[in-house]
Order: sequence, then C-alpha cells, then structure tokens
Amino acid sequence: MNSHSVDIGLIGAGTIGCGVYKTISENKDIIEKRTGIRLRIKKVADIDIKRKRPVKIPRKLFTTDARELIDDENISIIIELIGGTTAARELVLAAIRSGKNVVTANKALLAHHGGEIFREAAANGVHVAFEASVGGGIPIIKATHESYVANNILSIHGIMNGTCNYILHNMSEQKKGFDEMLQRAQKEGYAEADPSFDIDGIDAAHKLSILIMLAYGFFPEFDDIYVEGIRNISSTDIGFAEQLGYKIKLLAIAKSTDSGVQAGVYPALIRKNTQLADVKDAFNAIHIVGDKVGPTMLYGMGAGMLPTASAVVGDLVSIAKTAQNGSQPAPPMLYAEDAGHRTLVSTDGLSGRYYLRFQVEDKPGTLGKITTILGKCGISIESIIQQTRETNGGEVPIIIMTHESVEKSLRKALDRIRKSMTSVADAIFIRIEEI
Ligand code: HSE
Repeated sequence: MNSHSVDIGLIGAGTIGCGVYKTISENKDIIEKRTGIRLRIKKVADIDIKRKRPVKIPRKLFTTDARELIDDENISIIIELIGGTTAARELVLAAIRSGKNVVTANKALLAHHGGEIFREAAANGVHVAFEASVGGGIPIIKATHESYVANNILSIHGIMNGTCNYILHNMSEQKKGFDEMLQRAQKEGYAEADPSFDIDGIDAAHKLSILIMLAYGFFPEFDDIYVEGIRNISSTDIGFAEQLGYKIKLLAIAKSTDSGVQAGVYPALIRKNTQLADVKDAFNAIHIVGDKVGPTMLYGMGAGMLPTASAVVGDLVSIAKTAQNGSQPAPPMLYAEDAGHRTLVSTDGLSGRYYLRFQVEDKPGTLGKITTILGKCGISIESIIQQTRETNGGEVPIIIMTHESVEKSLRKALDRIRKSMTSVADAIFIRIEEI
C-alpha cells in the first residue's frame, strides 16, 4: 500500500493534547500499516510552552500563536483541544475558512455553536469531526451517525459524565457523603476545571445536545434542555433507593414521543438489574433503542488522556481516508435542511413515576395529611416506607413511590404540602426511569 502523509496542527497541549501526541508517536506504524496514512503532528500551539507536561513534546514544535498553524499551507487538519466557547469558536471558524479540516473534543462549543460551525464547514467543503466530544473513547458519534442510520431512534439514556457516576457509585459503595466523593473525583482528575459543569449536569447536557443533533437532526436550544445535577442527592436517598431495588444515576435522556423529542439531564432511580445500573466509577455508557436494532449499549472510558486521544486519532484517520478517496465531506446533521425549525417538547407535559422523601415530625395524622394532598392532586401511591423512630420525638423519613403521575401535578402537591404542613421539611423528589 502506498502511504500518504498527513500534517496536523494541534491547538491545546493539555492532558488530551499530550495523549494525542503520545498515541500518534507510539502507534503511528500500526496506523500506517492498517490504513496507509502516516500521521505527523507538525506544530503545537499552546499559551504555555514551558509547563511540565505528562508527555514530552519536542520544544521545536511549539508556538504560542495558533494562527501559525492555521496559516501553514501543509497542515490539512487542525485539532482544537483548548476547550471553552470563545477563543475555540474563533479558531475553529478561522481554520474552516482557511480550508482546513477540524477535529475537536469540545462539547460546549458544539452544543452552543454547532449549527454555525457545521454550516461553515459545509460551505467550505471541509470536515468537522468530534468523536471525542461525547463518551471519551466510546465510538458513540460514529455509531449514532452511521451505524444506527437505518433506525428511528426511540430513546437515548446515557451515563455521560464520569465525575457524577464516580461520585454516585462511590457514595453508594462506600456509604460516604457527596462532598468527600467530589473531592476525590477532582483528585483523580475526572472533574472539569469548573466542577459545576459536571455536578450540575451541564457537561452531560452539552453531550446530549450533540447526540440529539445526530439522532434527530437538529440542535436544540441549549436552554430548552431540562438540566438538574446531583448536588441534592444524599446518601440517605441512595440507601432507600437500594432497599427498594434501585440505583441512582445521573442520566442524559432523549425520547421520541408523539409530540416530538423530549430531553433532559437529571438524577434518576433505575432498577438494579439493568446494565446501566451496573456502570461503575468514572465509566460511561449510552443505551440507545432503535426501532429496528432494538436495545443496544456502548460502554467504556468517557474521559481521560488516552481514551479521549484514541477518539481524536480515530477522527484524524477517518478524515485523511475520506480526503484520500476524493470523497466530499458529508455534514453530520442528517436532516440539516429543516434543522432550524425543530424544538424540544416542553417539560410541562412530563410524566412518570417518582420517589419522594418527606422528613416529618412523627405525630398522629401527618402521613394521612400528606397522602390526602397527594390524592387530591391526582398522585397515586404505589408503596410507602416509614422508618422506625430510634429516639423519642424528632423527625422520621417517609418514602413514597408513586404510580405514573403528571409532574406538574406532583409539583403542585409538594408545594401545597410545604405551605400547609409546618411539620414537614421540603420534600425530595427523584424521577424513576424504566429502561
Ligand atoms: N468531565 C467529564 C466527565 C469528562 O466527568 O465525564 C470530559 O467530558
């Protein structure tokens, strides 16, 4: 096979950038043997070229000026790994307008500016590849874009934030609190620079937005995605959920319904005997149901230097191969022509089963009053646990699992309980997802 050499410009030599350099250095021969493509990082741009890095990159490759890479005529692919949405957007658009293909891992950039970036790429006849933006090393982008193309996607349930899964899994295994586990996740290097992106569900929502684009052909308005993080999940609720046969996971969910696509990121109870419930530590898993393929699940490392680099380098090779075959790059939006007009279904219509926990003063009539208000609002109860009081007086938890209920009615009931019953602390409610 005749080899074809491809010069690459790497913008951002942080953890993932170093992983890309290492992967190409160590595996370029096997990649070339398999594909006939010889990958070469020609230049590396970073604002800090002196910093000690986990991988040694020759000093002579470095520049602090990313434009140098974009202006280099021999470089045909730019890798953007700086993150954020301001400088990254400008550099990606500049690269596209200079006729360069782009590989990015930047989910925030695509969730907020993906429409603009893909339109610009189509207008300039270049590729924008983004496998590393969702699920790290898991080939979920290729799968959703290509392998499920024969299907109507009925649902997506993803554990797509390793930090949250690490925290929830270890709160459950080690019976530890949220704060302690967050600190540990940060020490292990899973968390985003700003941990609120992880624990408030924003990172997972960015990733969900990209999967919605691939599965349903439009980028949702980011603010239309319902997002709730895991700050309010306590080990008390994890313990009760387990007694009832459930695990609590942060899920990113999209469902195709008669009225359109419903989407949200929130913590949910899922049955213990499901594959998603078994996803441990910082692993990611995406469960997708297609109308033809049925249920499928992809699983692997959703973050980390080498898993993410694996996805970036896979994109480099795909782009180089397509270019070598003389094919035109295809825009990733399957239904791009009507993409601008689609929106998500409003969350007002949400319904489902719910886990409720009330902390109440243990005195006659309390439970009766709660269930009466729930009943008046049309919330039907499936089961109740009231824990034995260990001392005289004080509060006890009451756990209620509901039947299928309309969320708006449930919120109304909880509001009434809060206003009319001073002996009841604010209720916790967590959705139950059947997968
Ligand atoms: N911070 C992300 C996570 C990894 O915890 O999954 C990068 O997407």
